[in-house]
Amino acid sequence: MTGEEKKRRRLRLGVLISGRGSNLQALIDACAQPEFPAEIVLVISNRPEAAGLARAETAGIATLVVDHRDFREREDFENALNAALKDAGVDLVCLAGFMRILNPDFVNRWRDRLINIHPSLLPAYRGLKTHERVIADGVRFTGATVHFVRPEMDDGPIILQAAVPVHPDDTPDSLAARVLEYEHRIYVEAVRWIAEGRVRVSGGKVRISGVSTPEYGLISPKTQEADPTR
Ligand code: GAR
Repeated sequence: MTGEEKKRRRLRLGVLISGRGSNLQALIDACAQPEFPAEIVLVISNRPEAAGLARAETAGIATLVVDHRDFREREDFENALNAALKDAGVDLVCLAGFMRILNPDFVNRWRDRLINIHPSLLPAYRGLKTHERVIADGVRFTGATVHFVRPEMDDGPIILQAAVPVHPDDTPDSLAARVLEYEHRIYVEAVRWIAEGRVRVSGGKVRISGVSTPEYGLISPKTQEADPTR
């Protein structure tokens, strides 16, 4: 590969989903921009009925169903995932509403090449029903986090977060809808940074080059002007 070809090579993404696939759609839309430095080469769902599969098919992206119910052992399910990702030449695995816990073996195989989006300001509100719990606790801000995956659930070095206000009259649905808009933005931005080679993990924390310090934890300069809460 020549230096020029290397420069033009886009990061190859494998996206794992279980359902609706709106974060997948945000990545599909970003990758459709010719200057975006990544492309989706494979979408895998563990559920055959996941609506996200149709989104990928519409965009002409290869899809695969690896149904966890077809495997007796979690390890066999994960070996099938791993083989498909390897065969497709995936560089970075993006969990986008993928609702299966992954064993340490799988996570360690893809260490620092496996990222997740979670609908809270981690490390607060790990797990499910984040918006219900946020409202029940009366906290004023919640958010979304993109992070590298580690074996503990919803754990790992944080790449990018968005803080999102909780309104007094919010329901879990209204709050989820507000947070989701930010999920889509920070997931695309985090993938862009990784694809541009600006992200590294050091001492359990993410360091990002080329973005000024006060901004990089929240929303990048490029997307700030579109932030309605600022
Ligand atoms: C998103 O809100 C994502 O953050 C969440 O599932 C939803 C999937 O929506 N993921 C988790 O809770 C993982 N712990 P989508 O299928 O429309 O992207």
